[in-house]
Amino acid sequence: MVTRIPEYSLRERNTFGMDVSCALWVEYDSPKDLADIDFGALPQPVRHIGGGSNLLFTGDFPGTLMHSAINYIKYFDVGSDRVPVAVGAGVLWDNLVAKACADGLWGAENLSGIPGEVGAAAVQNIGAYGVEAGDIIAGVTCWDTVNKEKVAFKAPDLAYGYRDSFFKQPEVKGRYIITGVLITLSRIPSPKLGYKGLAEMFPDGTADSPQAVRDAVLQIRASKLPAVSELGSAGSFFKNPVVTAEHFTRIADGFESVPHYELSGGLVKVPAAWMIEQCGFKGAKVGGAEVYRNQPLLIVNTRGAQPEDILALKDKVIAGVRERFGVELEMEVETV
Ligand code: EPU
Repeated sequence: MVTRIPEYSLRERNTFGMDVSCALWVEYDSPKDLADIDFGALPQPVRHIGGGSNLLFTGDFPGTLMHSAINYIKYFDVGSDRVPVAVGAGVLWDNLVAKACADGLWGAENLSGIPGEVGAAAVQNIGAYGVEAGDIIAGVTCWDTVNKEKVAFKAPDLAYGYRDSFFKQPEVKGRYIITGVLITLSRIPSPKLGYKGLAEMFPDGTADSPQAVRDAVLQIRASKLPAVSELGSAGSFFKNPVVTAEHFTRIADGFESVPHYELSGGLVKVPAAWMIEQCGFKGAKVGGAEVYRNQPLLIVNTRGAQPEDILALKDKVIAGVRERFGVELEMEVETV
């Protein structure tokens, strides 16, 4: 079934809580519906969104916003150690994780509590506590809006990287609408507890169940990240930048120690939160937008922030970090 609503308010459709609208909202609940939609006849441009948890609307959207309500979780459980699970693109990511953990299946537990939907998770390659969605995604099915046909991609085609995938490449951006995602979970215990906060909670390096890891992740998240139902945000606003070893030496000059992760090729990932904090931006404000005090990688909407407030605050943070550390922060949130 396809639902079409003109002049649709997006207020409840973006976790930043921007009070904006689109010319047409189109929601569908079956992959087959996409074959019946004449994309050329819709108000342009046409864009697909998920839970709106990683987006900043900078104003009213003049075209059509599409949204998937394809909702199923199907196990292909043949009793082996690996359990393939097919999931509709419109399923809330955390409902999938909650179910996997309740059923004692390993693989998704570190990705607990992340807002958003399964289709968008596969585009964005969401990640937390040492695991990325791409680690457990075996493939996706899509509707190709150019050739007007169903297509399937296997994991190696998806080019997963840090918050990056095939679907974000400029040549294909917007072309494929994800309808379903195939996830591989495991019955064999495989806890990944290396990330700092988790390692502290599981000091002997083991966990009894995926549910125990989920509970710990939810506890850590609650202590750092605001619930989007209480304080509008789109999660991390910036990506963690990667610099050369030589640049890192200059960043670290004068500090006793600087948090960092060494990557291959002599590159170093430096937490943007640390740099933003050093620049004194914790709690910095423009209008109703504020650099979140508990985790300065986030910009939050404290009260009635306008898109311009958020953009101005973002520019201020980027300029400050550039001046102090010579690092160009990139947005993790996507603007629409
Ligand atoms: N830090 C500070 N000051 C602070 C907070 C953090 O200096 O106020 C430093 C600390 O050294 C800390 C380090 O930053 O160890 C990393 O902080 P944290 O573990 O909170 O993670 P992050 O790098 O800031 C990333 C993801 C988060 C994800 C966490 C946990 C990105 C852009 N963000 O944040 O993802 O939850 O790791 O894995 O990679 C999101 O994408 O929306 C998101 C929330």
